[in-house]
Amino acid sequence: MKEIVFQYQVLENESALSLEDAQLLLKARAATAKAYAPYSKFHVGAVALLNNGETIEGTNQENASYPVGICAERVLLSAVSSLYNGVAIKTMAISCHNLNGQSNNPVSPCGICRQSLVEQTLRQQQPIKLILSGMEGVVYVLEDAASLLPLRFTADDMK
Ligand code: THU
Repeated sequence: MKEIVFQYQVLENESALSLEDAQLLLKARAATAKAYAPYSKFHVGAVALLNNGETIEGTNQENASYPVGICAERVLLSAVSSLYNGVAIKTMAISCHNLNGQSNNPVSPCGICRQSLVEQTLRQQQPIKLILSGMEGVVYVLEDAASLLPLRFTADDMK
């Protein structure tokens, strides 16, 4: 029998974060206002802190043809790769503003975004720290975004 252990920190709020991580989370919360989510009314903001100190934002972008919509995380990963090709992501903060209900729970990347986060992690050969929180309240901290996708499919599987 094999066992995979998944660990993450649960903090009461952002005041328990380092200043760097708290600032990134505040940017992610502010970025939710730039989401284009007229269909779900679930606004997601993601912000990456790069190894070169730059911060880049991404938000979810929906479409009348629903499957065309893209999550904030993948908008962000594409933007980083295009604007700062080859620069690693140190930390990513993700927040959500739910216009239909509560926004005090952390949002966790969907399955497709987890696969994209694994690709970026392998490419940059450095783990991506994740800060997950709603507009207020509990904060989850994961030291390695790739841990969200155990038994993953990667390029090695095609060798
Ligand atoms: N969404 C994200 O942008 N990131 C997530 O981690 C979860 C879901 C978006 C996709 C869609 O625009 C809306 O949230 C509702 O699913």
